[in-house]
Amino acid sequence: MIRVHVPATTANLGPGFDCLGMALKLYNIVEMEEISAGLAVEIHGDGAADIPRDESNIVYQAAHSVFKEVAYQPSGLRIKLTNQIPVCRGLGSSAAAIVGGLIAANKLSGSKLTNDKLLELAVRVEGHPDNVAPALLGGITVSTAVEGEVQYMKITPPAGMKTVVAVPDFQLSTKLAREVLPSQVSLNDAVFNVGRAALLVTALCQGDLSKLCYAMEDRLHQNYRASLVPGMKKVLAAARLVGAKGVVLSGAGPTLIAFADKNFELIAKVMRDTFRENGVMAKVMVLEPSPIGATAMEVVS
Ligand code: HSE
Repeated sequence: MIRVHVPATTANLGPGFDCLGMALKLYNIVEMEEISAGLAVEIHGDGAADIPRDESNIVYQAAHSVFKEVAYQPSGLRIKLTNQIPVCRGLGSSAAAIVGGLIAANKLSGSKLTNDKLLELAVRVEGHPDNVAPALLGGITVSTAVEGEVQYMKITPPAGMKTVVAVPDFQLSTKLAREVLPSQVSLNDAVFNVGRAALLVTALCQGDLSKLCYAMEDRLHQNYRASLVPGMKKVLAAARLVGAKGVVLSGAGPTLIAFADKNFELIAKVMRDTFRENGVMAKVMVLEPSPIGATAMEVVS
């Protein structure tokens, strides 16, 4: 049996819409083995009540794309999912499912595909690379499609930097969160984001968190999504007041994520309390960046 641990991810990091992401130390486990016939899907943990157990399951779909690519036909498949990553909250649950399915299926079928090929398949399913790249590769990733191929670079997260996530008790689909975005933006806003994203990448490479308060600002997506996350602007402001270096919407939301090097518990409390004052119950967690991405091992069952 193949067992894959896949990290949660936070995408965008503010200005890096669809291109920046970071892996977090919170993991889903995907287990896969070939059986004599049929498909058996077992799900534990987050989303167990809602995630489909038939061929529409996203882990199965990802696995199927690998089998198709390498012309391997398993006689049947057993998939067991143990989920810690909250579903549809902006912490990369679908990226984890896709990457877990791809890696498990690749190992099951003789490890014929490279990481670059798996990334290409993952982006084909997910549509953008900013969650799947760090889920696969770990650390902080810059990734972008160039003539149909994903070009990426990895940054080691600054020492001592941790995140605080405030995860609201409601789901927000990425599809809906993308529908509220404009199809065109002004040159001013584009320039604003290019400057911030470049500053952010440099600050992260140099481990200088003092720049994050400006470098994590965004004008391409976050404000448009504020109406989908009650209390968002107040929670962001409150986290900054108690020492968060940068605080943003995680991916398409609704989770908010603060980056800091101290005061983690205080930031968590303030984010949870401010959400509650705005009618939203939120679960808070202090999560370290995961310097490594998904890992696979063969387990004797
Ligand atoms: N970059 C994407 C978005 C991440 O913000 O819509 C969501 O998966």
